[in-house]
Amino acid sequence: MCGIVGYVGHQSAGPILLEGLQRLEYRGYDSSGIAVIDRDGALAVMKREGKLRDLQAAIQQMPSGATGIGHTRWATHGQPSDRNAHPHASSSGDVIVVQNGIVENYRELRAELQDQLDAEGRSWHSDTDTEVIPELISKELIAGRSFEDALAYAVGRLRGANAIAAAHRGDPDRIYAARKGSAGGIVIGYGDGEMFVASDLPALLPHTTTVYHLEDGDIAVIDDRSVRIRQENRTSFQPTPVQVDLDPVAIARGPYRHFMLKEIHEQPRALSDTIRGRARLEPPSALADDLELPIETLRSIQRVLVIGMGTSLHAAMIGRWWIEQVAGIPADFDNASEFRFRAPLLGPSTLVVAVTQSGETIDTLGAMNHVRQHWGAPQVAVTNVEGSEATRQADASIILRCGPEVGVASTKTFVGSLAALYLLACRIGHAQGRLSPHVLTDRLEQLLTAPSLVERGIQRAERCAEIAQRFGTASNFLVLGRGIEYPLAMEAALKCKEISYVHAEGYAAGEMKHGPIALLDQEFPVIALAPRGPLFDKMTSAIQQVSARRAPVIAIGDEGDKDLSELVDHFIGVPPAPPLLTPFSLTPVIQLLAYQIALTRGLDIDQPRNLAKTVTVE
Ligand code: F6R
Repeated sequence: MCGIVGYVGHQSAGPILLEGLQRLEYRGYDSSGIAVIDRDGALAVMKREGKLRDLQAAIQQMPSGATGIGHTRWATHGQPSDRNAHPHASSSGDVIVVQNGIVENYRELRAELQDQLDAEGRSWHSDTDTEVIPELISKELIAGRSFEDALAYAVGRLRGANAIAAAHRGDPDRIYAARKGSAGGIVIGYGDGEMFVASDLPALLPHTTTVYHLEDGDIAVIDDRSVRIRQENRTSFQPTPVQVDLDPVAIARGPYRHFMLKEIHEQPRALSDTIRGRARLEPPSALADDLELPIETLRSIQRVLVIGMGTSLHAAMIGRWWIEQVAGIPADFDNASEFRFRAPLLGPSTLVVAVTQSGETIDTLGAMNHVRQHWGAPQVAVTNVEGSEATRQADASIILRCGPEVGVASTKTFVGSLAALYLLACRIGHAQGRLSPHVLTDRLEQLLTAPSLVERGIQRAERCAEIAQRFGTASNFLVLGRGIEYPLAMEAALKCKEISYVHAEGYAAGEMKHGPIALLDQEFPVIALAPRGPLFDKMTSAIQQVSARRAPVIAIGDEGDKDLSELVDHFIGVPPAPPLLTPFSLTPVIQLLAYQIALTRGLDIDQPRNLAKTVTVE
């Protein structure tokens, strides 16, 4: 959700922190702030409501210091404003803290700390939950504890999941970081006589690829040359950093106007990379070296449950379809945030597949935790982030190879997740002897065409722009699909909502006549996903019903489908795909339509209002 950065070294911290925040801005962007401390312990804090560019202008006036922390915020408690922006200082002015997550018991802690504030004649200076943290630390410092002990105490008092960076005027050569629960990661970057802290790798990559990820319960004490980790049981150790293999160029926007557009264009490559070496034809095998689940487990699976949120939930819905159709075993999908709170019955021999591109989504992690605690069922994480919390919770992971996704709207990780789920369906079906070598070969050969289906879908960009010009001002869209295209209709509607701010509903076409049809008139465009396939005729019946209400129909169907193009008002042709693979041919077009509509409306596509890339709060 929020982005955290920290620096301790020999350079001026302000510009380094600001650059790090720019690389994390996708995590939150309603306000931001930076605090720096110089060698003599002088502290300067600069905070601004709005985008980082507003802070950028302000920090020109800031005194320099070689130690500091920064934050880009996605508001949870208290509206976006200068006063609610992080860093937050203790009332004593000595301690500064930035946080990602939620302090669930902040009311209780505020009440407890109130006496101290009253005695000092001070009051809270923000509406945030975070402000209790510097206050708790400060209270312990006054009581004579070291900063490290005071921070450990404060973290121990918090309920919820929190990632924290902190610094202290009395200790200007160090910064501190802490991780509690699954509030998103904290990663430490090792430089030459300087150290960096960030909630995500993109902020570190321009400086170093030598990193250490904090574990749940870790507190890191960081100076310009070393890191010491203190664990909950008070033992300490010097961590061994690892090298990450990520190209800083991959996170640059290049010639594209938006990251989202760049990432849509990167999809063929993301897909080929994700599939590479995992779909072998001679002899046929899927995920042969990539799924660390014992063969006995794969053979004993009687049911698969695929969970996720948002776009990942839509991938899960399609994955369910493939597991039934390709692997031939019962499968279901669920919204992770609902799943765990309804005391679900998993039954024996269920495999749970958690789809989460970030590997940090708290709803999905909560569901995985529920599965582990109550059912002990085997779990597979499908994620783009190696080492993310989802991979730690799962028994096995399928890591997408999409490269970093910066645009807030998920695009390439959606198609990457689809490829991973299709491969998993093949793997399970093969392990259970339900797919003959011949059929498996056929399935895998089809999957290998997916990158080119996507590539050809992307070539429809101009047509999408024309349609967007025509309908860019519409207030509503209904998106219809059937079968495997139904989740895509929901994904299309989600993309329209999140980046174009247009009300859109994704519906199963058969459901339309049971209510939504009442909405339709000539001002209410309907997007119909209608490639040729077993349900094509039923889809065209739904289109006829829409046209009879004079609602304009935009159909996305097979290139050259004359019957369909003559039936509807507007037509976008995509390459014909085998019936199970239509998600790959249709996805780029639904993404580009939403993108182009947002463009015609002049919206901030990479940083849509109210959203954040990684949702680490409930
Ligand atoms: C939509 C979008 C969100 C995410 C959802 C789950 O474009 O990005 O709906 O799909 O927040 O995120 P992950 O996949 O990281 O679990």
